This record gives sequence, structure tokens and C-alpha cells, in this order.
Amino acid sequence: MMHNWLSTPLFLAALCFSLCAHSTPYSIKERHPVPDGWDLLRRAPLHGKIKLHIGLKQGRFHELERHLIEVSDPSHNRYGQYLTADEVNDLIAPSKDTLSLVQEWIEECGIGAHKIVFSIASDWITLDLSIGDAERLLQTEYSEFWHAESKTLAVRASEWSLPEHLHSHVESVQPTSSFFHAAGLAAKIDFPRSLYVDKEEGAGNPDIKDLNQLAETLSGELSESLDLDDLPSDLKASQACNTSAVTPLCIRALYGTLTYEAQAPDQNAMAIVNYGGEFNNRSDIDLFLKAFRPDAARAGAAFTFQEDNIAGAINQQTPATASQLSEKMGREGNLDAQALLGIAFPTAMISYSIGGEAPAFEPDKYTPTNTNEPFLTWLHHALAQKELPQVISTSYGDIEQTVPYTYAKRVCEGFAQLGARGVTVIFGAGDSGVGKDGYCRSNNGSDSYEFLTSFPASCPYGTSVGATRNIEPEEVAHNERNGFVSGGGFSRYFPRPAYQNAHGVVSSYLSRLGDNTYTGLYNREGRAYPDVATQGYRRVIVWNGEKFLVDGTSASAPTFAAVIALVNDALIAEGKPVLGFLNPWLYQKGFEAFTDVTKGSNKGCGTDGYFAAAGWDPASGFGTPWFPRLKELALERKFRSQRPWYWPYL
Ligand SMILES: *[C@@H]1O[C@H](CO)[C@@H](O)[C@H](O)[C@H]1NC(C)=O
Ligand SMILES: *[C@@H]1O[C@H](CO)[C@@H](O)[C@H](O)[C@H]1NC(C)=O
Ligand SMILES: *[C@@H]1O[C@H](CO)[C@@H](O)[C@H](O)[C@H]1NC(C)=O
Repeated sequence: MMHNWLSTPLFLAALCFSLCAHSTPYSIKERHPVPDGWDLLRRAPLHGKIKLHIGLKQGRFHELERHLIEVSDPSHNRYGQYLTADEVNDLIAPSKDTLSLVQEWIEECGIGAHKIVFSIASDWITLDLSIGDAERLLQTEYSEFWHAESKTLAVRASEWSLPEHLHSHVESVQPTSSFFHAAGLAAKIDFPRSLYVDKEEGAGNPDIKDLNQLAETLSGELSESLDLDDLPSDLKASQACNTSAVTPLCIRALYGTLTYEAQAPDQNAMAIVNYGGEFNNRSDIDLFLKAFRPDAARAGAAFTFQEDNIAGAINQQTPATASQLSEKMGREGNLDAQALLGIAFPTAMISYSIGGEAPAFEPDKYTPTNTNEPFLTWLHHALAQKELPQVISTSYGDIEQTVPYTYAKRVCEGFAQLGARGVTVIFGAGDSGVGKDGYCRSNNGSDSYEFLTSFPASCPYGTSVGATRNIEPEEVAHNERNGFVSGGGFSRYFPRPAYQNAHGVVSSYLSRLGDNTYTGLYNREGRAYPDVATQGYRRVIVWNGEKFLVDGTSASAPTFAAVIALVNDALIAEGKPVLGFLNPWLYQKGFEAFTDVTKGSNKGCGTDGYFAAAGWDPASGFGTPWFPRLKELALERKFRSQRPWYWPYL
């Protein structure tokens, strides 16, 4: 092929200076290493298309955060007085200065003002550009990167620049250096799918090769020994559970939701979010409910939950293709939906699916339009809604250090906005303990040995859920056969939030750990997680018409979300505010309703990891929920005043 001098960086730089004349020179705003597993293929074609999201500095985020803390803090007189969408948007709208300087910059680069699309609060700008235009705007080069493991193609730039006078006005631009969306990042790298399947591991291991059979047998035994429609109200976990294959019946008996009858299912909603082309197969969900929640199956729950498909997503209900079957597509989506409905039916469920999945890799037909950053796409959509489900569970995540700080920060702040509006945001804590052996290296250039943390589990504005296994007692979950270990640790990006200092639970754990254990491997000042835990080992799911056993905090997050949805149900029925951003209440009072997990540890990085201990610990948080007590404590919450007709603060 002929060398094309027009595409050399030098020429581009010259072009950019000539077209984007600015009062200040460009300098690098962010540089982030390309995570392991991604191979550079080549420069991206300049005529290719890209959807750029530019995060403007929010006008009064600290004010928003103060409101969030006040309305979520049981000791504050504004507790429970959640903000409306308009109030939140008002607080985060950028300053006039920010808006005009950024618009000026875009226009000076020859991009028409008509291309600028603002988010609902004007804190994000979306631009549909050619890659060439994006490169000029950010003085960068976009390349195609290939993730062989998941067959994902991404167009990214590992560093980008801004005119210096804009550095304090623009916080984040994506897609640039974040590889987060990594649709199909496989479990071996980390846990975006958060799903480890036992069945495949069976080959060569006689003990477990019949796990699938076991799941079948167990559910058969269950339906023979117990009438699921007429359960004894005093059914004990020891009677309801066979920890070789954990079903909704076990969860409901273990966490005490079995006899609770939802009273406000039409005013209450719980949601899951599907990324990376995942879907919730209604036919499979129906089979699952027929086996484990016949009442939900009869009510048609699998066919009536609401779908919200965003950015070209399809919540696929047609037969799976051969490649989808070989990639096990749909297991995560099925697990999440089955966990929520299996426990919290008849609460209404919403499933959000985010598009942007990479097309099958065919270099010749390549059109690079699949570059959305999924969390942002979802947040933009959700934050633009006037009404939101009261609980939202997310079973996707990535190693924190592979997510550029500016992106992680803005996404985390998006979750704070949901919290201010009274939404409980729930995340899985990750599936690699304190880090997968062999990957525990800093990517900051030093290559130093350290524990890895997970994002968004590390975001202080969400509630992060670890996994347990066994019953009486439950212990921190791990599975030697597939490498799954429940995740936990201390964020390097986010400092410890004030609510974690209530009762000094984190600092007492740290003093027990001592100064000489894992010194330098973790950030003692960081947001500590998980906050709580639920069963995440050998959970039965139905996928492609068959039962499987899976492990992962992917199961734990929706399980906890379902319990919270039922607490909200009781609150709504009594006309009380829902739980909202849970953590301030959890660390002050709610923890009393949890069964402490004191056995096991989240090993990794060649160490034993953090041990579970009496009280809070970074392996199991406060432990697992006991719904009757949780509901009681939630109903007892005191609200000091009615919400005024206007906000004196705004
Ligand atoms: C769990 O189920 C398996 C398979 O049916 C059975 O062999 C085992 O005894 C059961 N365990 C308990 C505790 O019931
Ligand atoms: C959905 O599940 C059914 C079996 O319940 C299966 O036949 C079908 O192929 C599945 N579709 C997808 C997209 O996975
Ligand atoms: C990289 O990270 C390690 C561990 O977090 C830290 O000790 C070191 O100072 C950092 N190095 C650079 C160059 O930032």
C-alpha cells in the first residue's frame, strides 16, 4: 500500500493548529495506558464516525453531594426528602463561562454549532463527528484496538489534549482512553460478565461433572418434597437450601423474605442493566419461574416485565445464533432477571439494555460506530427520566485502574445524582478477590505489585455486594475450580466517604489488620468495599432451556437488590420514603439487620487477601441481610419534617 503522508501525525498537528486557533496552546489533559489484552491494530480511518461525549465541569456538584448526604442521612432533618430531576439538573448545570468557552472551542475547530447536543442538565455535550474531526478537536490519534478474548473491536486514543484554558472546564471526553465498555471482556481477564460457570469446568473433574444434572435433580427433588405454592411459613433455611445448587426458595428462607407479601407492587420498581449485548431471555426466565416461582410464572412475569432498550440495543428474544450460544450470551442477563423476579416478584421489574455492542469482526466491512461508553450512555438516558425505579442493580464492572480516573469520577457522580433522587444503586463487588494472581501490577508505569480494586464497586455513591457460600454459617465465596473469589478492598480513586467512619468500622478493621500486613498493596484511605454480601455460589439459572450453576457477585447484586425492593415495598405501603442511597443509613443503623459473616477470605494476588471478621470487613461487608429486621428498622426510621413546598437551599 502506498504511504499516505496526509495521515502522518505531523501533518495532522499542523492542520489542527491552522483550524483550531485558540488563545491558549494545547496540552495533554489525560493519558491512560491501554489495559492488558487489547492489541493495537492500526490507525482508525479518518472518515470513520465517532460519537464524542464531552463532560463539562458541573456547576455545583459539591452542593449536589451535600444534598445527597443530607437526604440520605438518618440523623439529618432532611432525611428522606429526595430531590426531583429538575432540582438535580439545576445543581449540576455548568456555569455560563464553561458553556460559552467550550462552545467557542468547538466552533473554532470548524464544527458547526448545530452539531452540539446537550444532555438534560447541559453537563454533557454529544458530538457526532468523523474521527478526523475528533482528532483535531483533541489533538490526538485514534486507533483500532482488538480484544481477542472477547472478539471486541474498539476505537480509542490513549491520550488526549485540550487548550490550556479549557482544562478546568472540561473534565472528561469519551471515547478516548477508557476501554471500559469492553463488551465481551471475558472472565479470565476480570469479571465484566461476572459469571463463572461450573459446568464447563467439569471435564476431567469427576466430582463436578454432573453439576448440571445436579441442578436438574435438585429442582426435581424440590418440587416433589415441597409444594412451592403452599410452603410452611416456618420453613428453615436448613430445609429450603441445598448449598450444592442454590435456588430462590433457599434465598427466600435464608434471608427471611419467604412469607412477606408485597403490598405496593405497582408503585414500586426494581431494575437491572444489561451491557455488552446481554439480554434477558423471556422463554428461559419463564422456565426458571415455572421451576422455582410457579406463582410468578402463572402471572406471566417473564413476559410482562418492562424493557427499555437504549442506543440501538435489542433485548433479543429470537432463537440464539450459533455464535451467541458458543459465547454463552444471555447467561448474565438471565441470571440478573431470574434473581430479581425469583425473590421480589410481584414487584415490577424494568430491564435496561444498552447498545453499542461490537459487530462481528470483519475488517472489510468495518464501520466504527460502536464506540459508546456504556455506563455514560445508560446514565444519560436514566438521568433524563422524570420517574426512576427505586432500586437499580448492575452486575458489570472492571478493574479500577483500567478505567481512566476522569471517566470513573464522572460516572460515579452520575450515580450520586440517582441517589439524590432516592434511587438505591447496587453493584457487584467483583469476582477476583483482591486481584487475580499474575495481574496484580500497577499500570501507572511503576509496575509495582499491588492489590486490584473494582469499579464501579469502588464508587462511594453505590452499595457494593460481595458473595457468600454455604449456610449456617455463610462464608466468603470462592470456587477453586474456576478461580472465582468474591471481591473487596480499598479504592485508589475514591477517598473513604464520611459515612464509613460511622462507628469506626473500617478503621477498626484496619487496626486489626495492622500496619505490617499488605503494606503498600492497598490504599488505607480509600473507599472500602463491599458494604454487604449475599449468596453468590452455585446459583441455579436457566439458560438456553437448561439449568446451570453459576458463581459470581453478579448473582449477589440482584439478590440484594431484590431484598431492598421488598423493604421499599413495605415503606411505600405505609407512605414512607423509600431507602434511597443506602449507605449512610446502613453504616449508622441498618447494619444491625445483617448476619455477620466471619469465615473465609477474599484471597488473590498470591495472598490470603482480607479475612472476614466480626463486624464489617472488606471480604463480606456487614454480612447478609435478614429481611424481617431490615424492614422493621427501615419502618422505624424517623423523619423530622415534611418536605417544604420549595427548597430553601436551591
Ligand atoms: C443436596 O442434593 C444432592 C443431590 O441431590 C444430595 O446428594 C445431597 O444429599 C443434598 N444435600 C443435602 C444437605 O440435602
Ligand atoms: C431463549 O431461550 C430459548 C429456550 O428457552 C432458546 O430456544 C432460544 O434460542 C433463546 N434465545 C436466545 C437469544 O438466547
Ligand atoms: C504507582 O503506584 C504505586 C502503587 O500505588 C505508587 O507507589 C507509585 O508511587 C506510583 N508511581 C507513579 C510513577 O505514579
